Amino acid sequence: MSNVFISKHPLVAHKLTLLRSTKTEPKKFRELVRELGGLLTYEATQDLLTIPKQVETPMGTANGYELKEKIGLVPILRAGLGMVEGVWELMPSAEVWHIGLYRDERTLKPVEYYNKLPIEPRVSVCLILDPMLATGGSAVATVDILKRWGVKKIKFVGLIGAPEGIENLTRHHPDVPIHLAAVDERLNEIGYIVPGLGDAGDRQFGTG
Ligand code: PRP
Ligand code: URA
Repeated sequence: MSNVFISKHPLVAHKLTLLRSTKTEPKKFRELVRELGGLLTYEATQDLLTIPKQVETPMGTANGYELKEKIGLVPILRAGLGMVEGVWELMPSAEVWHIGLYRDERTLKPVEYYNKLPIEPRVSVCLILDPMLATGGSAVATVDILKRWGVKKIKFVGLIGAPEGIENLTRHHPDVPIHLAAVDERLNEIGYIVPGLGDAGDRQFGTG
């Protein structure tokens, strides 16, 4: 699929393997989610628009650039929270807008429980952050919310996707690029990604 980008970076592959392991404790798990969030976002933002800007160096004038677009980070609670710090290190002026969704365990449909977006969007590009793209229900619902809010340019940045989730998000929102560290085999009968990494929220927050 043309709008799906799977990282080929060795650092991403190395860190994702550590992240998946049952031996990885919550403290290390959080560190890896943060680092992977930054690395994946670095790859996902290659096409951000810039405007020329001159700066004075101690030796003269340099022709440079500054970012043109105002960026919003939209972590899906809870698991997406862990990716924010890694991205913020790269773009400290990004605004962060939280969307709270959980999957109903029976239906696997997303249920919205938190949304404090202002009436008018103040950003022109939104990066949705969520480690897991399983059925894709949460991602589709979040893009729906952001498009209703008026954001024109949206990207999904995740860590592991299932083929089902990628297909669902691509079908509903073909204009939204999907950036991932890996695509796994399948979903199991309770909607978890196999082999995946288990429950990304529980493993970060020690709630499993
Ligand atoms: C997880 C994950 C995604 C969602 C993915 O969140 O962080 O938001 O599931 O599943 P989907 O693609 O089938 O919608 P969860 O609902 O477990 O909530 P949590 O982050 O609070 O644990
Ligand atoms: N949410 C998770 O945290 N893990 C999965 O495998 C699927 C959804």
